[in-house]
Amino acid sequence: MSAPPIGGAAADTRRSGSVAETEALGSGLAPALEAGDVVVLSGPLGAGKTRFVAGLARGLGCKARVRSPSFTLINEYRGRLYLIHLDLYRVEPPGAETLGIEEQAERGVLVVEWGERLPAPLRERALIVTFEVVSETERTLTPRVAAGRDRARAETLLEAWRAGATAGARPRGRHG
Ligand SMILES: Nc1ncnc2c1ncn2[C@@H]1O[C@H](COP(=O)(O)OP(=O)(O)OP(=O)(O)O)[C@@H](O)[C@H]1O
Ligand SMILES: [Mg+2]
Repeated sequence: MSAPPIGGAAADTRRSGSVAETEALGSGLAPALEAGDVVVLSGPLGAGKTRFVAGLARGLGCKARVRSPSFTLINEYRGRLYLIHLDLYRVEPPGAETLGIEEQAERGVLVVEWGERLPAPLRERALIVTFEVVSETERTLTPRVAAGRDRARAETLLEAWRAGATAGARPRGRHG
């Protein structure tokens, strides 16, 4: 059996044509999340990573507005779970190793922009979502599980993604 492509499987790719659709992909993943989960967001500036986190936060029932933690490094939102929102754009490895992120992660769900800079033990248990910019308004989001030992939870999250928890901009009336 051949290994999945590094960028994730094309069948799992979801296309977003608007901010609302990217947010819906985030909120769709929220019901599957548990404390201790790690979601890594990877992709260029302006790809929609922060908008995805806004959706994730809404899906967890967080009331606060999601802002980019580019300067503060870390924002925290309280919903069904704590959502710890990190942005490592300005943190080159091994700087991230010294931030005490591992202790933080146990308290809730860790979602990390520029998460490829996350210390390896956390990266290895993450669901990794790679964003690509297709046009001014179009993005693709492709999930994959890291090639580490500690991948059981990430695989569960990938299943949730596949199950269509993340069916784009579909109306979500039943769940609010
Ligand atoms: N389909 C789309 N999904 C998400 N954002 C979109 C989309 N189309 C256009 N945009 C625009 O792209 C930008 C995405 O900004 P966002 O802050 O989420 O990016 P980011 O990936 O977090 O960037 P950074 O690496 O700088 O933190 C916003 O200005 C948004 O209006
Ligand atoms: Mg951002």
